[in-house]
Amino acid sequence: MVARVVATMMPRKKSEKGYDPLSRRIGVLISGRGSNLQSMIDAIAAGRLNATIAVVVSNRSAAAGLQRARAAGIEATCLRPEDYASRDDYDRAIVRVLNDRDVGVVCLAGFMRRVGAPLLEAFPNRILNIHPSLLPAFPGLDAQRQALEHGVRVSGATVHLVASELDSGPIVLQAAVPVLDTDTVETLSARILIEEHRLYPEAIQIVLAGHWKVEGRKFMRLPAEASAMPLRAGS
Ligand code: GRF
Repeated sequence: MVARVVATMMPRKKSEKGYDPLSRRIGVLISGRGSNLQSMIDAIAAGRLNATIAVVVSNRSAAAGLQRARAAGIEATCLRPEDYASRDDYDRAIVRVLNDRDVGVVCLAGFMRRVGAPLLEAFPNRILNIHPSLLPAFPGLDAQRQALEHGVRVSGATVHLVASELDSGPIVLQAAVPVLDTDTVETLSARILIEEHRLYPEAIQIVLAGHWKVEGRKFMRLPAEASAMPLRAGS
């Protein structure tokens, strides 16, 4: 049976030239240390990622990632969930911040909250997440501990598009690392984190380039000539 195509490319708006490309302005949602955010900042500075971080939003005011963003000259703001009447109201507030800054793609980088319908509907197939396991193994919290307790010999990192179910959604890139008999949660986490920092900027670059579609639950890259979507440089 031929798999049903559920989405092709990105949502595109018509312009006088045909189609507007995907905005290369990204919004990064964090809750803590922000080392993956830093890997994006570094990849942009090194020319490995053609994007602009338009805004960083944290749900925790103490998140160290807010300082990393500000140190790099990036707008960083905290939206406190307790200031909103409902989860949906909170998500709608995030959407407003992102839309006001013309964000095209949203990157979750250690954002410790479930993403609800208002955010998913505002950015369909345009929210990315990184998870410290080879999904679909070990979704949810403490993925590295889960891997150790299960006794797997290989674990790793996954970048995927965000769907309504936790740590599900089409997989963009994965990287594997060995699990050693001597590993602790800390040593395994550190080995995976090295791969995360390489993988996330690469996955964002792939998604922003636009030559892809989602078919069934698969993220499929397309030959460049099959895509009508031009790139917009340096926006
Ligand atoms: C990373 O391990 C990431 O995979 C997970 O949360 C952690 C965030 O770390 N989703 P950091 O805040 O990017 O340093």
